Amino acid sequence: MTAHTLTPESHFIDREPYYETVGDEIAIFEAAYRNRLPVLLKGPTGCGKTRFMEHMAWRLKRPLITVSCHDDLTASDLVGRYLVKGGETVWVDGPLTRAVRCGGICYLDEIVEARKDTMVVIHPLADDRRELPMEKLGQLLQAPEEFCLAISYNPGYQSVLKDLKQSTRQRFVALEFDYPAAELERRIVANESGVDAAMAEKLVKFAQMTRNLKGSGLEEGASTRLLVHAGKLIASSVDPVVACRSAVAQAVTDDADMLAAIQELSSSLF
Ligand SMILES: Nc1ncnc2c1ncn2[C@@H]1O[C@H](COP(=O)(O)OP(=O)(O)OP(=O)(O)O)[C@@H](O)[C@H]1O
Ligand SMILES: [Mg+2]
Repeated sequence: MTAHTLTPESHFIDREPYYETVGDEIAIFEAAYRNRLPVLLKGPTGCGKTRFMEHMAWRLKRPLITVSCHDDLTASDLVGRYLVKGGETVWVDGPLTRAVRCGGICYLDEIVEARKDTMVVIHPLADDRRELPMEKLGQLLQAPEEFCLAISYNPGYQSVLKDLKQSTRQRFVALEFDYPAAELERRIVANESGVDAAMAEKLVKFAQMTRNLKGSGLEEGASTRLLVHAGKLIASSVDPVVACRSAVAQAVTDDADMLAAIQELSSSLF
């Protein structure tokens, strides 16, 4: 018996997700999709990768199935497994299989976190065979034309052990993401949080200052996501310096000296 239903994690997006185009990423993704090529999104945390995928799923009118990969994630978690339900053994599709069956977009977030054996499963799906081996079912599932595989990865945070293998990365069309240019980021922060243009400008300036600290004690500067968080607090009447401390500084570091340095930056700005 095979059970495969659309679950909440696989959904059609009916309202356009707000997405500011940074470069030619939409055109490249669409061309890759038309040519049935899988896509790799690279970029730091909180720079718009997930939002972009939601936007593309809406544009292409395909359901989006997102899987956050973690170090326990096995091939069976993606493909499916037999479960005992009411005394009966039933096969339950995993999210990747569901995405293949319904011709959806499967987005494997933070792919390098997943266990090595999961890569083996996506390889035949990510080259021109476009097939998913379902070992436990003894089946080979052919992906329909509409199916698309996308993965994301934050270069720089990984150890050599957790880097993407060449045999994996060389299957994908890569799109590089980064924090948007100041003008664009101001617009995003204002739109997403509800602060006015002047406040959005200050927040972006603040973020750029923290990004300059990267490498000299900070692992990563403030992401666009954190600016949106700070903006939301400010739009809810939280004092900007307090908002920057809670939503940004505390989120990027625990180091007391670094916290003080960031606090200084925001105090001078606001
Ligand atoms: N180009 C953009 N257009 C609209 N909103 C954006 C854009 N870039 C970033 N954002 C805002 O930043 C937030 C964080 O982006 P998102 O969740 O897509 O980051 P991410 O790159 O997926 O991060 P992670 O690697 O941590 O998953 C979004 O919720 C959105 O508010
Ligand atoms: Mg994401």
